[in-house]
Amino acid sequence: MVTIKSKKEIELMEDVCKIVALFYEQLEKKIRPGISTYELDQEAEKIMRDLGAIPAQIGYDPGVKGVPKYPSATCISVNDEIIHGIPHKNHIIKDGDIVSVDTVCLKNGFHGDAARTFIVGNADKEAKRLVDVTKNAFFEGIKYAKPGFRIGDISHAVGEYVKSQGFSVLREFQGHGIGREMHEDPGIPNYGKAGKGIRIEPGMTLCIEPMVIQGKPNIWQADDGWTILTEDGSLSAHYENTILITENEPKILTII
Ligand code: MF3
Ligand code: CO
Repeated sequence: MVTIKSKKEIELMEDVCKIVALFYEQLEKKIRPGISTYELDQEAEKIMRDLGAIPAQIGYDPGVKGVPKYPSATCISVNDEIIHGIPHKNHIIKDGDIVSVDTVCLKNGFHGDAARTFIVGNADKEAKRLVDVTKNAFFEGIKYAKPGFRIGDISHAVGEYVKSQGFSVLREFQGHGIGREMHEDPGIPNYGKAGKGIRIEPGMTLCIEPMVIQGKPNIWQADDGWTILTEDGSLSAHYENTILITENEPKILTII
């Protein structure tokens, strides 16, 4: 169901999303070669709780038969891991890695969701370009996140931009509405036809989240039931914000 948020609900969304923004400012300082993704997740959980939010991803049940509940506060997906990487003690971050962190905070019954890809030390030029293109793709998409456009306009803009840069989008996962639920309607694919899908209306809160692959779009899933990786071993990046649709320009709630 698509939910239109009231003034009070928008205030609560703004509040939790501000915590997500502050969270990433603090988390960035903890990322360094030699830290394990498990340790980084422990730091992340502490930062979030100190900021007054609950890590909503812990125990998240996707409701798919055979898929275990998500165990950690963050998804940490390194290099060829695209999304949903589970933090591990034996996964050590090294110089030149690109590290995507995705997390959802919960406060006063509302969720805020954002993802960032961090470049650790000296990554190569193409890795940096991939990270830039992924972030830029979000800003291409948000141009259409206002009344007068449809969800397909956002999807189309993201997909065409990524293609124009020689990269692929992940097709199996998509952005989404957000609010009292972590995932609400509408789904927002990173590819699609302009002019299709539901109309964008003030009071919607949406997550636009380009997930971009350097090489071919084919993927595989690790036997942990979660981690999604590129089949060709090429790099992948993720960038996501929670936004609010208004009468005019959208507000990015997870950037301060
Ligand atoms: N934050 C993710 C998203 O953008 C959801 C991660 S799934 C979870 O939709 F299990 F880790 F919560
Ligand atoms: Co997310």
